[in-house]
Amino acid sequence: MAGNWKMFKMPAETTAFFEKFRPLAEKSGHCEIVICPPFTSLRAAVEAAQGSAIRVGAQNIAWAKEGAFTGEISGPMIAAAGATHAIIGHSERRQYFGETDETVLKRTQAALEFGIAPIVCVGERLDERESGNTEAVLVRQFQHGIAGLTESQFAKIAIAYEPVWAIGTGKTATPEIAADAHRAIRAQVKERFGAEAAGAIRILYGGSVKPDNTRTLMAQPEIDGVLVGGASLDPVSFASIVNF
Ligand code: PGA
Repeated sequence: MAGNWKMFKMPAETTAFFEKFRPLAEKSGHCEIVICPPFTSLRAAVEAAQGSAIRVGAQNIAWAKEGAFTGEISGPMIAAAGATHAIIGHSERRQYFGETDETVLKRTQAALEFGIAPIVCVGERLDERESGNTEAVLVRQFQHGIAGLTESQFAKIAIAYEPVWAIGTGKTATPEIAADAHRAIRAQVKERFGAEAAGAIRILYGGSVKPDNTRTLMAQPEIDGVLVGGASLDPVSFASIVNF
């Protein structure tokens, strides 16, 4: 269960979140929890999560270790802050910041090189769904992106299916729509990495996940977890999601 805070929460707000969230989430031993604050609040999150099973992730990661890459944050920098995960290829990065399938692959490879667990996002836009191209888009994103990993690299990632039309819009994909997309992604994984990898890969659903729709989404065997934006900002709401 991953929370993507996007560009919200200062360090002090991060600390306050964890104070409320930790006792509420303590019961949720059934799942792994990762919270992804902005870079500048990573340290505060790591400190506030200390002694709990909650992990902290970044929302992006550079494809190089260091160098002349203004504005980028590298894997070793993220690891030094104490974070263990990184979201890669979020649709907002693809839409507004020129992220491509190729850069998603490079960032994923770099994350793995520096011991950061990638959560790689894929998903179609509304026009792509309406023109019947959902599967073609997912296949393209997979083939040009994470299909370029080796088998042992692939074993260390999680995938998040996030239909762009469902993100921040209040329009959740129905559990059936999400499960169909997850099946299409899993079929790609099977073709490229084999049946065992397809069984083991964790595919999270993201897009307007809320406390009241988590249970029906998670009831789909294809859905292994959720990536939550807006509803992860409030400790009570995110706790009721992880305790679904
Ligand atoms: P949302 O965002 O839950 O606010 O729709 C999900 C995401 O972008 O990861």
